Amino acid sequence: MKRRRVGLLRAALDSAVFRLEATQDLARVGDWELDRHSGRMRWSRELFRLFDRPEALGVPDINEALGYYGPTSLERTRDAFWQAIDTGRRCALEQEAILPSGQVRHHVTVIVPVSDGQGQVYKLYGTVQDITERKQMEAERIEYLARLEALSRHLVEIEERERRELASALHDRASPNLAALRILFANLSAQLAHTLPADAHAGLQPLLDDAAALLADTTAGIRELCTNLRPATLDYGGLAPALHEYLTQFRQRTGLDAAIEVASDADTCALTPASTALCFRLVQEALTNCAKHAQAGGVRIQLERDAHHIRLTVADDGVGFDLSRLGEAGSTPGLGLITMRERVELAGGRFTLRTRPGEGTEITVDLPCLPLPPEPPEPPR
Ligand SMILES: Nc1ncnc2c1ncn2[C@@H]1O[C@H](COP(=O)(O)OP(=O)(O)O)[C@@H](O)[C@H]1O
Ligand SMILES: [Mg+2]
Repeated sequence: MKRRRVGLLRAALDSAVFRLEATQDLARVGDWELDRHSGRMRWSRELFRLFDRPEALGVPDINEALGYYGPTSLERTRDAFWQAIDTGRRCALEQEAILPSGQVRHHVTVIVPVSDGQGQVYKLYGTVQDITERKQMEAERIEYLARLEALSRHLVEIEERERRELASALHDRASPNLAALRILFANLSAQLAHTLPADAHAGLQPLLDDAAALLADTTAGIRELCTNLRPATLDYGGLAPALHEYLTQFRQRTGLDAAIEVASDADTCALTPASTALCFRLVQEALTNCAKHAQAGGVRIQLERDAHHIRLTVADDGVGFDLSRLGEAGSTPGLGLITMRERVELAGGRFTLRTRPGEGTEITVDLPCLPLPPEPPEPPR
């Protein structure tokens, strides 16, 4: 009877050991114990596999075990052991183990101290998990992100360059021709007034007026198109003059009360050319949103700087909106706000959007700026 119970217990124990080993194998986790005073260890079978150590070599002592780590990991592992002993608290660390084949594996080790009745740590136990595949995936993800960032930056540069080229081609080809046409047309009108009988000229006058208005409208349209594409003022005058120019057109087009305040020290010299163009695009998108969605009476733009940032604020007093409902089923969100945030973050800045139904919309952007020029030295007295 007794022998049968012993047999059953042994079978249960064997099954538990088998399942533990199978679990360790699947999870790539081994466990160990260390007698603090003798330095002797106990290793689970999986730990031998994680370190590629033949079981025939037996369990290493602590010094031999530490030999699997390169200098940096070795020092950090030693520190972690002492930290667990000194504080009596468990700790965890990541290490790089160098296998006998020279292959490098990434491990996470958890160290748990065990104390006696007097609170003295006499034993440590813990686990080692192989996280090499996870680390590789993480490294690949970081590399993809870096490539995506580089690609986005490149696309923004190409977009700006193409806009600039298109604007200058339009300006160079169309504007002089339109100006010449206006002069030609004025001369033609004057000659017709002289040569035609009065009643024939009066009959032509509405047509002449229409044609002159069409010419003026086309000239204004091309000027506006150039400013939208890429105002030359941005390159030659800087951000503040380009914004003033854009705002004048925006007021004429929409009838909105749009005002801009530029702090005296927030000039474009503080921003890289890419950030200058970005600020202009942000104002363009924010003002377009304001005209399209806000039903606002007015919109205020501010440009300020502190030691490290340029702050751009665009705030309207319109209907606002519920941010949590953006992108809800049934609505078709545009890309404007998303693109603004992405481009600001890509430039190392911060994008904040504050809005609530009935409370207007405010966009704040902080972009890193170039350092202030040093103060000129005091003239000698
Ligand atoms: N200034 C604003 N006032 C009110 N609603 C706004 C404003 N800006 C954006 N929105 C809301 O946010 C949505 C998303 O804006 P956006 O991403 O620029 O896309 P789009 O302008 O193409 O719709 C808009 O459709 C609108 O509902
Ligand atoms: Mg938009």
